[in-house]
Amino acid sequence: MAASYDVLAAGPDVPLSPAEQDRAAALTREADRADFVAARLLARVLVARHVGTDPAQVRFAQTCAQCGGPHGRPQVVGHDVHVGWAHSAGVVAATVDDVRCAVDVQSVAALRGGELPLGVLTTAERTWLDGQPDRPRSFAGLWIRKELLVKLGDLTLDGVSRVDVTPSLVGAPVLGRTLVAVDTGGLDAVAALASERPGD
Ligand SMILES: CC(C)(COP(=O)(O)OP(=O)(O)OC[C@H]1O[C@@H](n2cnc3c(N)ncnc32)[C@H](O)[C@@H]1OP(=O)(O)O)[C@@H](O)C(=O)NCCC(=O)NCCS
Repeated sequence: MAASYDVLAAGPDVPLSPAEQDRAAALTREADRADFVAARLLARVLVARHVGTDPAQVRFAQTCAQCGGPHGRPQVVGHDVHVGWAHSAGVVAATVDDVRCAVDVQSVAALRGGELPLGVLTTAERTWLDGQPDRPRSFAGLWIRKELLVKLGDLTLDGVSRVDVTPSLVGAPVLGRTLVAVDTGGLDAVAALASERPGD
């Protein structure tokens, strides 16, 4: 995981597909376009390393399982590997694996000063959160774990408020998945990843 501007500054200049260009162009904020591009760039670099090719050769496809549009779970074209990425207000994360995988990142800075959407939490999660000194960071830690389960296909957004992810904070699986915190290197953000590897 990294700051979007660091990825864009360091990464190779890899063109987006026409579908990706259309989606990027539809984003009205420059910062959102930067995150969109940086997440893909980071993912391309990781996939290229994993399969032993050049980032420019890596192509992604996205077809929404619900509407058929060019979004949703990403696939790597022409390689039997799985990829995931996420972006949040200036920070991006990506992961690659031989099995279905997902990563999520949340800028904590973006949550500070605002009202936290506590309705997405279970009663147990709210009780846990009440004991935490940094509520935005702790809330974000719960939220990214719920999103991981959505991205893995274990949960729908409608169901997130019914699944208690606090056991994962001490390493226990939730819905059979191990949700692993990712070091955010001093950024005011949290990130986690998971895969569907048995035993993970
Ligand atoms: C998956 C989901 C939780 C991501 O949430 P988010 O906080 O907006 O975005 P994140 O930065 O964390 O992750 C975005 C990335 O997740 C991936 N992603 C999106 N939908 C996904 C899905 N259903 N499964 C796995 N990965 C998915 C994509 O790589 C996406 O990147 P992109 O937007 O640049 O293409 C959200 O898109 C969702 O709830 N989707 C399910 C509902 C749905 O499919 N709606 C569309 C109906 S037309």
